[in-house]
Amino acid sequence: MSQQKYYITTPIYYPSGKWHLGTCYTTVICDALARFKRMQGYDVFYLTGTDEHGQKIDDVAKSVGVPVKEYIDKVVKELRELWGLLDISYDKFIRTTDDYHEKAVQKIFEKLYAQGDIYKDEYEGYYCKPCESFWTKSQLVDGKCPDCGREVSLMKEESYFFRLSKYQDRLIKLIEENPEFLQPKSRQNEMLNNFLRPGLQDISVSRTSFDWGVKVPFDPKHVVYVWIDALTNYITALGYGSDDTTLFEKYWPADLHMMGKEIVRFHSIIWPAILMALDIPLPKKVYGHGWLLLSGDKISKSKGNAVDPVILSERYGVDAVRYYLLREIPFGQDGSYSNRAFISRINSDLANDFGNLVSRSTAMCSQYFGGIVPERGEIEEVDKSLIDVCNGAYEKVAKAMDSLLVPEALEEIWKIIIRANKYIDETTPWLLAKDESKRARLQSVIYNLIEAIRMANVLVSPFLTKSYVEVFKKIGVTDEYLEGFGSLEFGTMRSGAKVEKGEALFKRIDIEKDVKELEAIAEKAEAEKNKKAEKKEDEKAENTVTFEEITIDDFAKINLRVGKVASAEKVEKADKLLKLGVDLGEGRIRTVVSGIAKWYAPDEMVGKEIILVANLKPCKLRGIMSEGMILCASDEDGNLAIVSPSKPMKAGSEVR
Ligand code: MSP
Repeated sequence: MSQQKYYITTPIYYPSGKWHLGTCYTTVICDALARFKRMQGYDVFYLTGTDEHGQKIDDVAKSVGVPVKEYIDKVVKELRELWGLLDISYDKFIRTTDDYHEKAVQKIFEKLYAQGDIYKDEYEGYYCKPCESFWTKSQLVDGKCPDCGREVSLMKEESYFFRLSKYQDRLIKLIEENPEFLQPKSRQNEMLNNFLRPGLQDISVSRTSFDWGVKVPFDPKHVVYVWIDALTNYITALGYGSDDTTLFEKYWPADLHMMGKEIVRFHSIIWPAILMALDIPLPKKVYGHGWLLLSGDKISKSKGNAVDPVILSERYGVDAVRYYLLREIPFGQDGSYSNRAFISRINSDLANDFGNLVSRSTAMCSQYFGGIVPERGEIEEVDKSLIDVCNGAYEKVAKAMDSLLVPEALEEIWKIIIRANKYIDETTPWLLAKDESKRARLQSVIYNLIEAIRMANVLVSPFLTKSYVEVFKKIGVTDEYLEGFGSLEFGTMRSGAKVEKGEALFKRIDIEKDVKELEAIAEKAEAEKNKKAEKKEDEKAENTVTFEEITIDDFAKINLRVGKVASAEKVEKADKLLKLGVDLGEGRIRTVVSGIAKWYAPDEMVGKEIILVANLKPCKLRGIMSEGMILCASDEDGNLAIVSPSKPMKAGSEVR
């Protein structure tokens, strides 16, 4: 029988340079699925890549002042390093700036135009740049983008349109009659009720207001709409539209397009319609997973709530990050990240359950049998339930994986681990060891433990890609057969393997200490980011310094006076501010709040003569009404000095 194929894809990522734990979710899930299928004997093709065209990327590159391709190349390299770190086993990484992809997109566009599925018209609508989405006025929510809630801008331009409306009935039928096509079920209702049943409109598929994209071949002032360019990656990556379509013939249709829920609309409406127009079979399944949230908000760097997967991997290991993503978030639904939940998971499931089982069992094997896995003896009643759990696990795990219930699959594997830990307490090997007549029983118990670990570890291997190698080493498994699903029959491992005690698989973490440390790291990163942003702003301001001229009359409007500082104190909870009492000879003391705390201590200020802008409209700073502004000199090295008269002057003297 020929090997069955399995084609799985993640969306292609925007090379925005903003990676966080949420970004890793889709790729890690797909990686576990791809690895699992490979171990089941499927010929897997796992595709990921980058979505590099469009105004958004062009703008980001411009904002950092780097040519767009140069900027993207650097970011794509970083993304691939992140996938390397997380052990993502993709088979192909497509970039939409790859020549073969661009050519294929042009061919597709030309074909659809030639057959009348694309036509030219004028476009007027609202465009959300961050989402690269067009909306009609009635689709906006409070005048903002219905997907992300950000500002949209009104656009009017000549454009090519794709006849999406033509496919409306077929799309409704597709979703209604093939419940497997779009999952989870909640996304079906969302698409049907929010988009399909109210009626589809043709969509604009070209732009003329910028040129960072694939040029429409017969009208090059237009570039192809980025979503059309991006979605076609799933077929161009396989050679569709090129001279070599071997991979396309082998792997298409996709078995699974996986993505976050916010882009299901593109994958379950626009993408199938394009395929229908091209007369290409449809993907078998589109799955929209939920989001990883932080304090109820989608994790995203633009919201300043990013959690850094690199820092977490360096501190706790890649497997801890993978395990957390795979286990903690109810699949299809949103899940919340917290440092505490993350560490608790590592402590309970990895250090306590799995790690302890391995270290206790290998330690006992070393102590009682010199590290050589003993013979398996008679099966006793207490062994049976451990053996049953081990033998029944594969089927349950595979079923969960087929239904894309990844956390449930892990839960099934952990049943072996938890059962085996309980088995140690039930069989009390340390007591058996004291009684020479129980030597055969002790052999059996230790064998059963090592075999249970092996079976759990075989199942764990698509998920914990580093630790499983360690565990096989620790229990002396060197035969590849014993590492595969084909060996999941209890008792397959032979005696005689050499067990290594070694270091603990996962260290237990002091939650309180680490939560504090992680918070401190996040705060520091945030402060650095703000500092950088401030510096950039300053640089921008400096570069654009132009001395706008004013007339003497303008200057005369400013009332500058010599003031004597009568009192000074720090403003509570405001590191930068001092609250000063300033005497201008008016028979009262003015309150002035000034941002000089970094350079002057309150004591230093008392008695100083300063120059005050005396007729500045009073304003509240940190709840204190400030009546004027002190003049200071500052330079680009961060120095600041108060301006004072060069000899003592009366309070209230005019400065001209
Ligand atoms: N470029 C488009 C996809 C085009 S596919 C033809 C895109 N890219 S993205 O970089 O914004 O998102 C890539 C994947 O990361 C998506 O599946 C998205 O849902 C996922 N995630 C980004 N932040 C996420 C969370 N906070 N939580 C879970 N997944 C999220 O969209």
